Amino acid sequence: MTTASTTRTRVVVVGGGPAGLLLSHLLHLAGIESVVLDHREHDEIATTHRAGILERDSVRLLVDSGASERVLTEGDRHGGIYLRFGGVSHHVDFEALVGASVWLYPQTAVFRDLHATRSAAAGDLRYGVSDVQVLDVAEPRVTYTGTDGRTHEVVAEVVVGADGSRSVCRPLVADRKQYLREYPFAWFGILAQAPRSAPELVYARSEKGFALISQRTPDVQRMYFQCDPGEDPTGWSDERIWEELQGRVAGVDDFGLQTGPVLERSVLPFRSFVQTPLRHDRLVLAGDAGHTVPPTGAKGLNLAMADVRVLAEELERFLLKGQADALETYTDRALARVWKAQHFSYWMTTMLHRSPDSEDFDEARQLGELESLVSSTAGSTYLAEGYTGWPTV
Ligand code: DHB
Repeated sequence: MTTASTTRTRVVVVGGGPAGLLLSHLLHLAGIESVVLDHREHDEIATTHRAGILERDSVRLLVDSGASERVLTEGDRHGGIYLRFGGVSHHVDFEALVGASVWLYPQTAVFRDLHATRSAAAGDLRYGVSDVQVLDVAEPRVTYTGTDGRTHEVVAEVVVGADGSRSVCRPLVADRKQYLREYPFAWFGILAQAPRSAPELVYARSEKGFALISQRTPDVQRMYFQCDPGEDPTGWSDERIWEELQGRVAGVDDFGLQTGPVLERSVLPFRSFVQTPLRHDRLVLAGDAGHTVPPTGAKGLNLAMADVRVLAEELERFLLKGQADALETYTDRALARVWKAQHFSYWMTTMLHRSPDSEDFDEARQLGELESLVSSTAGSTYLAEGYTGWPTV
């Protein structure tokens, strides 16, 4: 095999989504150069709709590192959510409970800001490459086929797998243990041209299943409802989608679901997954490559950003101070938060969704759980703390 080029850098990052770009940005601030590779085209990532909620510390990280100011001017601060069950909405006031808010700011905007920031600093970002292969994790070497059709090579001191749930880096961790939980449902997600239905997000539990009324802009809304994992979104008319959503938010109060043309529809996968360790030799995993959560509570991007914050610190110790233990401590530091978020996402999911094998007992118990949450400060404080994000350590 002849290589058309060899690039030497300190860190090669496989994956140019928000996690990979944020890491490359934080490393750049510390004076550590990196190369970012992604098999997707820039425009594909920029237009793929994902979750829209940022925890307090995710926002701080974007603002304090200079990656995004727009999150404060274009994002919407939300001081709480509504839990809707028994046909009534109950407000959970995060500000009153824990003195924190979250920000509605879509992942596409986070990507746009990070990409602009790295591009302005002449970051080495290589999108649309194919056949990315990590050939060595002791003396990291990654090859790929470039947009010119030729083989290129990147040689680095560390390789980071920030390449999502179908990671090519994940299987390279030897002696790995994997934890998996699958769910008998998925989410049907839509973008719709419609006004807002409520000032904050509405998480609804009903006998027909779960629904989430989220937002994007004053005229475009994001909504989800629980569906069968094998559901084909193309077979659904707008009328059928609105009927399904309406059935799940129907109630005895005056809640009015605002409807309009459906602009996009897709089915989102649903699973809980953790791999440990997150490191093998000089390869480390960050974000979905190492762990995934079900979407309820929007923890995925926030966890990826928390990983990257810790990883940037450890890489700085490893590469600039020569502290050999730095990569070892990464797994424990990152997974401490990951397992809290795993529990939180699992808990929110099971509290609000209907299982196909659900019996009367399960239904009544679920209502008891929701009632004990909204009727007590002690009950709702855990939700407020987990949703806005645990303090970073
Ligand atoms: C969104 C997605 C989520 O999974 C969630 O819990 C809240 C909001 C969203 O896409 O807006």
